[in-house]
Formats: sequence, structure tokens, C-alpha cells
Amino acid sequence: MCGIFGYIGDKNCVPILIGGLKKLEYRGYDSAGICVADGCRLTVVKKRGKIADLEGSLRLKKIIGTIGIAHTRWATHGEPNEVNAHPHTDCCGKIAIVHNGIIENYAPLKKLLEQEGHKIVSQTDSEVLAHLIEKFYAGDLEKAVIQALKIVDGAFGLAALHENEDRIVVARRGSPLIVGIGKNEMLISSDAAALLNHTKKAVYMADNEVASVTKNGYIIKHLNGGRLAAKKVDKIKWAAAQVEKGDFAHFMLKEIYEQPETIENALRGRIKHGRIKLSIELNVSTVRRIIITACGTSWHSALLGKYIIESLASIPVEVDYASEFRYRSPLIKRDDLVVAISQSGETADTLGAIREAKEKFAKTLGIINTVGSSIARDVDSGIYLHAGPEIGVASTKAFTSQVAVLILFALYLRQARGGALDKNIIGELCGVPQKIRHILENTSGIKSIAQRFKNSPNFLYLGRGVNFPVALEGALKLKEVSYIHAEGYPAAEMKHGPIALIDKKMPVVFLATEDRFLNKILSNIHEVKARGGIIIAVANGNGSKKVRRLAEHIITVPSTLKSELSPIINVIPLQLIAYYIANAKGINMDKPRNLAKSVTVE
Ligand code: AGP
Repeated sequence: MCGIFGYIGDKNCVPILIGGLKKLEYRGYDSAGICVADGCRLTVVKKRGKIADLEGSLRLKKIIGTIGIAHTRWATHGEPNEVNAHPHTDCCGKIAIVHNGIIENYAPLKKLLEQEGHKIVSQTDSEVLAHLIEKFYAGDLEKAVIQALKIVDGAFGLAALHENEDRIVVARRGSPLIVGIGKNEMLISSDAAALLNHTKKAVYMADNEVASVTKNGYIIKHLNGGRLAAKKVDKIKWAAAQVEKGDFAHFMLKEIYEQPETIENALRGRIKHGRIKLSIELNVSTVRRIIITACGTSWHSALLGKYIIESLASIPVEVDYASEFRYRSPLIKRDDLVVAISQSGETADTLGAIREAKEKFAKTLGIINTVGSSIARDVDSGIYLHAGPEIGVASTKAFTSQVAVLILFALYLRQARGGALDKNIIGELCGVPQKIRHILENTSGIKSIAQRFKNSPNFLYLGRGVNFPVALEGALKLKEVSYIHAEGYPAAEMKHGPIALIDKKMPVVFLATEDRFLNKILSNIHEVKARGGIIIAVANGNGSKKVRRLAEHIITVPSTLKSELSPIINVIPLQLIAYYIANAKGINMDKPRNLAKSVTVE
């Protein structure tokens, strides 16, 4: 939810800290701040608003130092303002901390600290960490951090400085933290994207680990035991350019246009001589039921996973919101497979769901984009999307790669259980990237629809079968980035209530592509038209002639022989409609209000 960054080395850290925050701004952007140690004292500068506002106020101050920590915030406790911005300090300003996560027991800790005379000035939970460290500080920052965290419940990605110590002490539980290894310099960050301009060598900290980071190295210990943690140094596989916008106005548009390539990346090396190759360290031949759990857009691909796996592998699939699954005491059997889908691999509820599944001895699998993320480390096995960093808060390329991987996984399950693979579907799957390119090269109609409906207060998205989760995803995209209220429904469900919403001002987006439901969709279109609704239809093949006769606006997309693959194609125009409406409304859709890229708190 928030972004943490730190530097220790020989250079002036201020511009480096600001550069790091800019790469993390998509994680949260309601306030930001830095703390710089110059060998004598700590200087803290923080501001409400964007990183650029903080940068502006730093220009007026001559702050020099070679050790610093920084934070960009997405508020969980306390409104977004300067006093609640991080870094937070102890009573005397000798200790500073930045924190990502939630301190569950901050209220009793705050009461205890205030009774002992500490002055806590903000409404945040995080500030108690600075005063706890102060309470335990006796000349050794790492020791004080360990003692403080021993009485903390909740999640943290934490970085701390003391004015008298040339090191950054970091610790993590539930929120990501990475140590970047440079030449005579070290960095710390919430995610790898912010390290890329400095180093590709990274050490991913695990839960309940603490590290002392100096400019020449780091020592990582277990919070509860003090013994050294053996950690391997990973190589970040992303290129620095991948976290830049390039020629695109926004990350969201860049990532929409990356989808032909990211689908190719998801398939690369996983289809050989008509067989599926997935390095899954699990015996899937005995799986009797699959439960897929996720949040948001990933839950939409999870819904598609049900249709796809049941159709291609004939294994029963249940789908559950992670936030519900983790608390409803799910009935899980040992021959169940629980699959977590998550772009960030850090979504707190999805992480909680996997931990619940493991406590009940289910096998667990992750379909994750972010290498080394918490969920990726917690599951028994996983399949990475290889989609590269997704910076735009609205998930686009991750969604289509999740669906592509789910198709591969369904075929893998079928193959592992002795089923023959349909050569058509593999050929069709490999042809999807080119079909997406065709849509991306012909967007004028989509742009004019966006222009025409940018001021509509409401939208309905309707689809059947695999187009129902696509309808949900189209509605979520629009809501997220344009702030227009939009609902996705199974088209048949419209008669059970939503049809009351239809009037002459209501644009209704139908997924009306050629499949066994087309005739039913056409009757649903008639029902909407009869009530004056405005029809925007996504159609393909011969069906588009029938649809064209009914729809005021039609977006033609390439067909595919296999309906299981059509969501990857049909969602593209819906992503673009959301993008172009948001753009027409002057909204910065890379950082939509109230949202964060990764919801690492419940
Ligand atoms: C999607 O556009 C949203 N940003 C959000 O719903 C997101 O899909 C959800 O928070 C899950 O994130 P994850 O895939 O990283 O777990």
C-alpha cells in the first residue's frame, strides 16, 4: 500500500530518494517524505500531495547526507496530511522510521507510551514504532528495533535510522522489503522497480527478518532468534526501461499495448511439440477439486479459471474472494488444490487465504506476476506470468496473462491426467497475440465511443458464459479510472432487477461475440433496446452482422475457434474504453483517487 525506499553510500542521497519514491508512487500517493542523516543529526521533510510537491519543497532547502529513508503513503490510519506523512520520529528527533503495513495493536501501545511520557503527534499507527524503538534504544538501533517489534502485532515493512549510527535497520513481516546491492552503496525498497536505476542484485527479505544495512553490505537475522539468515542474491530480470512510460502518455496505455508481447511471454517455453511444460512441483493427477482465491481483477480471472478448467480439464472448481475465504473456515480436504492469483503477490487477503489453506493441509499454487513476492514464497509451487512490472494501478496486462496461464494450466491438468490435448486450442492460443495487435491497430472507433459517452453517469456491462467475467472486468476498469459507476452482470440476470435502470441515458455494453449464447444475447439486446437503452456491442465473425442491426455502436474484434480464449481478446476494447474515457475526463488513470496498486493491508 505504501512505498518505502532507502539509500546508504557515498553520494548525496536526496535526489536518489526522490527518484526511488517516483518509481514507487503507484503504490500510494497521498503524502510523502524523506529523512536524511548527515552524520550529526536527522533532517525530516514531508508533505501532503504528490512526490513532485515534496521535490519542490526540497529544492528550497540545502539538505546533504549520504544516508536516507523515504516513504510515499496510502493512508490507512489518519487522514492524508503533513503530520501523518512518514517519516515519523521519536520524541527527540534522533530516531526516524518509515513503515508500510498496519500495526494491529497500536492503540494499547500508544496508551502505554503516552503513560510513559512519549509525545505522539500523529493519528497514525506507524508513529508508535518510532517511540517504541526510542523506548528500547540503549546505543544499538538493531537491538532496539528487534525489542520493539517483539511486542508489535500486525504487518510491517520498516526502515529506521538513528542520528548516531551509520546504518539503516530494516525489518519485514507481511509487507515486502528488498535490499538492493550496489558498488559501495546499498538500497532498500518495497519493490524491485525502484532499484533498477541502481542495481539488479537484490535480496528479498522474508517475514520476521531484520537487517542492518551499511554502505558495504548487510547482515540479515531472524527477528526472534538473532541467528543469521542464509539469503541468496537474486538478479532482477526487469530492464530499467520497463518501469518507464516510453512513448506512451500513461503506464496504463503502455501496458495495454504490451499485451501481445506479454501473452507471448506467458506462453514462451511452455508449449513444446504440442505438450504443455510447466515446472509445477506438485502432483496434480490426484487433485479432486480446485479452489481459486483472489481479489479484484485477479478474482475476475479466477472466475474465468472456473469456466476454463472445468471445460478443458473436467475438474470441479470453486472461486472465492480471498477476504471471504480466509475467514469463513472453509471446508478444505487434503486432495484439494488452492490456487492464489495475484499480480503483486502481496495482497494481504490473498496471502491470508493461502495461509488458511496451508493450515488445512491443502496443496497451494500461485499464479503470480511479481517474482519473490510474499505469496510466491508462501505457496507450494507457482506459475509466473512473466508480464514485467505492472505500474498502472488498473490491472490490464496482468489480467490477460493470468487468463493465458490459466488456459495453460487447464491443459497441463488434462495432460497430467492422461487426457489428449486439442491441437486447435494450442494453435489458437499462439495466435491470440496477433489478434490483440489487430485491435490495438484499429482503435478509432473505440476512441469515438469513449468521447461520446465520457459524461455518462452509469454504465452496464453484460455478458454470458466466459463473457460474464469479462463484463465484470470491463465495469471495474471503467469504475477505477474514470470514476463512472459501472456494473457487470450475467446478461440473463438483467431481468432480475438491473433492467429497471435502463433508460435513454444508460449505455449498455454487451459482449456479443460468436458463441453458443449469441442468440440469447441478441434477445437481451432487444430487451434493452425496447426500454430505450443505448447499445454498445463487442462482436465478431458472422455474428457481427446480426449485432450491427441492433447496436448503435459496435466494436468488431477477431474471432477465435475456442471460446475459452475469447476473454483475452474481448477485454481489450473494454480496457481501451476505460482508458480513453478517463483521459477525456482529464483523470490521471495511473494514479486514480483512493486506490493503490497493491492492497497489502486488510
Ligand atoms: C485491478 O485493476 C485493481 N487494481 C485491483 O482490483 C487488483 O486487481 C486487486 O487489488 C488484486 O491485486 P493483486 O492481483 O496484486 O492481488
